[in-house]
Amino acid sequence: MSVKPQLEGEVFYPTPEVVAQARIKDWSEVARRAADDLEGFWGKEAEELEWYRKWDTVLDRSNAPFFRWFKGSQCNIIHNALDRHQRSWRKNKLSLIWVGERGEVRTYSYFALNRDVSKFANVLKAMGVKKGDRVTIYMPRIPEIVIAMLACAKIGAVHSVVYGGFSVDALQGRIEDSESKVVLTADGGFMNGKVVELKKTVDDAVRRCPTVETVIVVQRTAHEIRMEAGRDYWYHELMKLPLATGSCPTEVMDAGDPLYMLYTSGTTGKPKGLIHGHAGYMTGVYSTLKYVFDMKDEDRYWCAADPGWVTGHSYIVYGPLLLGATTFMYEGAPTYPYPNRWWSLIEKYGITILYTAPTAIRGLMRFGASWPARHDLSSLRMLGSVGEPINPEAWKWYHREIGKGRCPIMDTWWQTETGMFQLTPVPTMPLKPGSAGKPFFGQDAVILDEKGKEVPDGKEGFLALKNPWPAMAMTIFREDERYKEQYWSTYPGIYCAGDAARKDKDGYFWVIGRTDDVIKVSGYRLGTAEVESALVSHPAVAEAAVIGLPHEVKGQAIHCYCMLRNGFTPSEELAGQIRNHVATHLGPIVKPEKVTFVDSLPKTRSGKIMRRVLKARAQGLPEGDISTLEE
Ligand code: WT7
Repeated sequence: MSVKPQLEGEVFYPTPEVVAQARIKDWSEVARRAADDLEGFWGKEAEELEWYRKWDTVLDRSNAPFFRWFKGSQCNIIHNALDRHQRSWRKNKLSLIWVGERGEVRTYSYFALNRDVSKFANVLKAMGVKKGDRVTIYMPRIPEIVIAMLACAKIGAVHSVVYGGFSVDALQGRIEDSESKVVLTADGGFMNGKVVELKKTVDDAVRRCPTVETVIVVQRTAHEIRMEAGRDYWYHELMKLPLATGSCPTEVMDAGDPLYMLYTSGTTGKPKGLIHGHAGYMTGVYSTLKYVFDMKDEDRYWCAADPGWVTGHSYIVYGPLLLGATTFMYEGAPTYPYPNRWWSLIEKYGITILYTAPTAIRGLMRFGASWPARHDLSSLRMLGSVGEPINPEAWKWYHREIGKGRCPIMDTWWQTETGMFQLTPVPTMPLKPGSAGKPFFGQDAVILDEKGKEVPDGKEGFLALKNPWPAMAMTIFREDERYKEQYWSTYPGIYCAGDAARKDKDGYFWVIGRTDDVIKVSGYRLGTAEVESALVSHPAVAEAAVIGLPHEVKGQAIHCYCMLRNGFTPSEELAGQIRNHVATHLGPIVKPEKVTFVDSLPKTRSGKIMRRVLKARAQGLPEGDISTLEE
């Protein structure tokens, strides 16, 4: 009989069923093994995958912070996500179950997914896409976004997915920076019963992007769009061409060759195109998903994020396929046409693992427990949360009303930059609502003060990661120096996450939120720089500052402070226009909650906007150190 450890605070223990079926019975034992021999641990994980050529070294630290994992190896993530399953019984297993907002269903076996990916890879090649070329993907949540990503990876092209909720300016900047010659999109997507006009946005963005030669359009909504001769092609027509055969060789990639880029934006400068590679990323994503969600062949796994964010890349697309799992994808809104949509999908498709964001849980919680109570959710065995800290209230509701007290909740903390989970429980770990558990195997996470000294347990500080991990971003596209400066300069040799957190005496981590000016709206990471530049592109706005303030459902909402140009007077109407202006230029998710007109903005003597002062004022909190303030 094991004795329950005495843990501080409110604790939820795993049920005997969870323990019985778990891969990892004792977290500490595996953690110790990985801590004692980091390279040994990851080398063994990598052995579970197939390689064209094995590595010479598991981890090369000689050019830190540009760590090289599995140096000397050759592989392709597609070989492990698709090719190898063709040789096993999984060929006939469902790889993807997709449901459209209007109720259409499409399923792909591993055989069918591989065939369509190969066909589209041949199309891309025929369009002149070569190894190393960047391809921008701007699509709704439909199977073709998965096919497009995988087809790029198969031929060694670098996909750059731009979230479909972004609009013209955001899309244009990302196409331009990546110098994509090809853009993949759709005539639209369905969301909340309406058509999202993706192609129109592409037309507007591409007009200003001279690098783009080809636009491939998936027909989804079949409503009228403009097709430009010589530039735009229908996906379904290309897929019918004789050259689009169902077999295509998978490109042999070196360990450090890029797999994809994904943009995140910050306080200054243009968005950063973070680069992820094949070998390390593949290994890290594979192992984290295997251990944390304890993925089994019988599972039907649903990560309800959008493929356009890193969660979707790692844990809708690549992770599940690497494990030969069945991944579920739903196109539309959780509340369309009624607030039971998700719960009915879980019941209808027998979903066993649900992985989503706190904002979605809070949003659905508002409608009350009677909605999930109408459905048989007994297929669920595991739940997950990601994107922002989950408030204990929402955690407990999720645990009680959705998981019926049986399903452990994996609160996973990680980032676009980390590519894979960094702080997370495993199913057998006792859980504390609101805590993201402990560092994943091989990670040594610490809470530091400004000088880089570890703070005592229970005290707040800066979250930092001391050990390299396989799925870490390799660099920022064409900006090695910026990568070093941004993440590795605060504490030399240590990765600085940009989050505030504390660790309790039981070793559980509690993430508090960003320490920089990054805003998290509904879990979506948004930089102030892009929003402020959209604001000043409005004719009435001379200068602007943007902050995130707490919001009951979204976590944070965007609040704007605008100084008007001469000749413009503050009004409700103008505020409304400015809010719409931002939504049109950057996307509906970026629409500000509130625009406040001001006569001046708090700035440092060197002219930097002090957003934290605005934030403190807005919340009636102390302004902190304002010695550098010059207003
Ligand atoms: C930021 C990174 C969506 C996949 C990961 C997000 C916040 C993420 C958690 C969590 C508390 C979290 C952090 C982090 N965050 N997960 N479980 N608990 N905060 O990737 O869009 O790059 O955002 O999201 O602030 O720095 P991302």
